Amino acid sequence: MKISRVGVLGCGLMGSGISQVVAAAGFRVRVREIDDATLAAGLESIEARLRSAVSRERTSAPEAEAIRQRIDGTVAIADLADCDLVIEAITENREIKLATWRELDEACPQETIFASNTSSLSITEMAVATRRPGRFVGMHFFNPVPVMALVEIVRSMLSEEEVVEQACEFVGALGKTAVVCKDRTGFIVNRLLVPYMLEAIRVLEEGLASKEDIDAAMRLGAGYPMGPFTLVDFVGLDTTLAIASIFFDEFREARYAPPPLLKRMVLAGHLGRKSGRGFYDYS
Ligand code: 3HC
Repeated sequence: MKISRVGVLGCGLMGSGISQVVAAAGFRVRVREIDDATLAAGLESIEARLRSAVSRERTSAPEAEAIRQRIDGTVAIADLADCDLVIEAITENREIKLATWRELDEACPQETIFASNTSSLSITEMAVATRRPGRFVGMHFFNPVPVMALVEIVRSMLSEEEVVEQACEFVGALGKTAVVCKDRTGFIVNRLLVPYMLEAIRVLEEGLASKEDIDAAMRLGAGYPMGPFTLVDFVGLDTTLAIASIFFDEFREARYAPPPLLKRMVLAGHLGRKSGRGFYDYS
């Protein structure tokens, strides 16, 4: 089966980035959001990135226009019925994801491939909520999607080999590199990255060094593009807490337990860049 039309569920930070890169690779994209206002905000974020890419001469004006023309938005799940592949990038909430998959499964023909961009929920559990568990994979992009070159393809026990291969080919067509892994919480990148981010918060609480010095140490001493506190602010403290909680539920190991400081900062509304304040002040 050839993939030509791609549906994207969710036009937030990840969904808008995914829609943009898929359209930039020449596929037709239909992105679905829950209401008109949220959809308009998501499409505007794509628009803003395209404008910026044109002004920085990273993309030509006609190319940006062609990308825009390949993306259309909807609020109806049924409008994704003619897509060959649907990538889900909605909120990281198990119940909402399962309900959305059931609704999509009703709407789409049996051959449509389903892919979830979840960072921490089980691909197997979502796959069995549909009538096509063999045609279901994880397709995990990284933030910022237009920049990060990796996509993790997650193969559940039920995924058909041919679907895994098609997913990897699709990632290649986006100009990104695919790595394949099993359906285990965190996959590869977050399995290694999350304990690192949590340990940084713990050593800060312990008084090992200032957050600025810890960030500088990891940037300049280990070559990371961002230090751990800049990264947690970038990912979102609420998202980091949610992921850590899912990890801890799965593995019951102390290294995945969310540190008290992280929990308090989320309660205080210090969510990182998106709220204007996290470990650093962005106001
Ligand atoms: N959206 C689109 N493009 C962006 C962007 C964004 N949010 N932020 C930066 N860029 C682009 C810039 O436009 C620039 O493009 P150009 O080279 O074509 O001009 C390029 O990225 C480099 O940007 P800058 O020069 O402004 O800044 P940096 O060199 O510091 O790069 C960064 C920014 C790419 C974000 C870099 O700091 C980085 O790689 N940070 C680490 C990000 C990371 O670890 N992401 C993974 C998070 S974990 C995750 O996503 C998993 C999830 O499940 C939690």
